Amino acid sequence: MAYEKIPDSVIEAVLKHHDIVETVGKYVHLSKHGKYMKGLCPFHSEKSPSFTVTPEKGIFYCYGCGKGGNAIKFIEEIEEYSFPEAIRIMAEEANIPITWSGSQERQQSADGGDRDTLIEAHELSVKLYHYLLMNTTHGQTALQYLRNRGVTDKQIDHFMIGYAPPEWDTLTRFLEKREYNLALMEKGGLLIAKQDKSGYIDRFRDRIMFPIWNRDGKVIALAGRMLGEGQPKYLNSPETMLFNKSRNLYNFHHARTAMRKSRRIVLFEGYMDVIKAWSAGVHNGVASMGTALTEEHASILQRNVEEAVLCYDGDNAGQAAALKTIPLLERVGLRVQVAMLPRGMDPDEYIEKHGADAFMRETIEHPVSATKFRLLYAKKNHILLEEEGQKNYLLEAVGIIAVLDSPTEREFYLKELSREFDMSLDSLKQDCFDRRQQLQKMKPQRDNNDNSWNNGRNENRENRRTSSAPPVLPAYQVAERKLLAQMLQDADTANTVHQKLGEAFNVEDHAALAAYLYAYYAQGHDPDVSRFIASLQDSRLERTAASILMTDDDIPFDEHLLADYVNEILKVPKFREIEQMKEAMVRAERSGDMLKAAQIAIEMNALERQLKGRQDDRF
Ligand code: GTP
Ligand code: MN
Repeated sequence: MAYEKIPDSVIEAVLKHHDIVETVGKYVHLSKHGKYMKGLCPFHSEKSPSFTVTPEKGIFYCYGCGKGGNAIKFIEEIEEYSFPEAIRIMAEEANIPITWSGSQERQQSADGGDRDTLIEAHELSVKLYHYLLMNTTHGQTALQYLRNRGVTDKQIDHFMIGYAPPEWDTLTRFLEKREYNLALMEKGGLLIAKQDKSGYIDRFRDRIMFPIWNRDGKVIALAGRMLGEGQPKYLNSPETMLFNKSRNLYNFHHARTAMRKSRRIVLFEGYMDVIKAWSAGVHNGVASMGTALTEEHASILQRNVEEAVLCYDGDNAGQAAALKTIPLLERVGLRVQVAMLPRGMDPDEYIEKHGADAFMRETIEHPVSATKFRLLYAKKNHILLEEEGQKNYLLEAVGIIAVLDSPTEREFYLKELSREFDMSLDSLKQDCFDRRQQLQKMKPQRDNNDNSWNNGRNENRENRRTSSAPPVLPAYQVAERKLLAQMLQDADTANTVHQKLGEAFNVEDHAALAAYLYAYYAQGHDPDVSRFIASLQDSRLERTAASILMTDDDIPFDEHLLADYVNEILKVPKFREIEQMKEAMVRAERSGDMLKAAQIAIEMNALERQLKGRQDDRF
């Protein structure tokens, strides 16, 4: 990627301002373990923590998935930013002036700043609509409508709700006066082109306006609701260069703090539900916008939380949507629960009718498990007063339970069924067992799990098992890593190693790191692990550096140790040479060239003696 070089001073300032523990702590719950902080890795799914942060060195590293680096790298990885994007966001947060050219890098080069212009126009439009709602007679009816629905002024301000008047050109004239390129505004979804192409008109007219923010809190789209009944009830911005509805979630940026703290997200169906629930105390609530939840949504959520609570409408459509959404979330490894609402009610109505406390107490704080929800959903389809209906439900229920991985969980639900319908547990268990056998036969050979809903999760579990045990490294690799760990933190050691070893590390990445490190010190920098890593701009090297620093232990370093390590490292090419000589000797013998074989043997012995001697030097 081509972008202007970001000044070292900016990188330095960003790293100085963004402490690694604080940066990571916003996403991961960390607890102290000696010199380290540990937590569950946000980049892969795991149950026991292999994600480590070393405050002293300003780096993170995960033993499970191998991701590692400094605070900037962490933001890059977790937010899916490029390096310059991460720097820009972090600099903005720290009030570090963004002076380098190309600081709007991606947008500028790709679309000549169109994205920024459009965001700016969106922000202005939202302010206009909000102003019209709150302060003018145009907004009176709309304001009254909102108040009648129990939306307070505080909520209106917080969610920047507005009103688009019925005229054709309110926003068009507003944007024109401010010299926005109207064709671009049309592309961005704020305006629409007149049929005869003679100009533009407002997209949103006589609607209550809800701004839609991206994850950074920038307005990228709008949704407009009719004041009364009618079609379409909601009109959303179209998909634009800013807005992709299968990736965006309403209220995501507001919800982030609470979501990360609780590791939990509450999913609603509608804007109004999110807004009302927010005031009831649900600060980790989001909604998809006019679409079902997508796989992309699920994977975004997976990176931020461990658990999702579905709080969908209590009508058939809402419950069916919940049933469809559960496997989507389970597949990315999230634990799913469902907050149930009385038949036919949506969260907004429930809060209006029963109040915020009841909403929290009776629904949000007491969700049912996904399995329980599936059972309840199935139950509705059967007439339990009839024997036939009961029997059919029981069979369906056993089918739902049979896919569960955990024998304990299966037993738990089977017992519940047996109590509820006065059936013997044994016969339910037998049915369940038979069903599992059937499932086993049905699924593809190589796939060794018996739960189609849980595929992703089981895969993750497998990965974790195989990757969590650190590999045993050969002695010379350990030596290289220990040496580099010391060199990273001490310029004198680096100097000595430079003289004795140069770049003669046997592992290619180690040699590269050493070379970069010599250059780093040669430029007059002091040891600073996190800054050095920032200078690399190579993910693999960054990870290697982080992993080296993480495994660094407390054995005091001295010149003897240094000499040992250097020896260990220098031995390797000699050993390789001896191995090659051995092969050459065997070849010579085979071809009958005994003289040559003997010569090689002599050289080989000399080399071996030399190697031994070198080792004895130390004592
Ligand atoms: P209120 O009726 O004002 O309470 O809104 P709601 O959010 O409860 O609406 P509803 O439950 O009917 O729909 C849930 C969500 O589906 C909405 O928030 C919208 O995102 C979406 N939606 C509903 N109706 C429409 C529509 O006509 N067009 C589009 N694009 N989306 C809609
Ligand atoms: Mn509603």
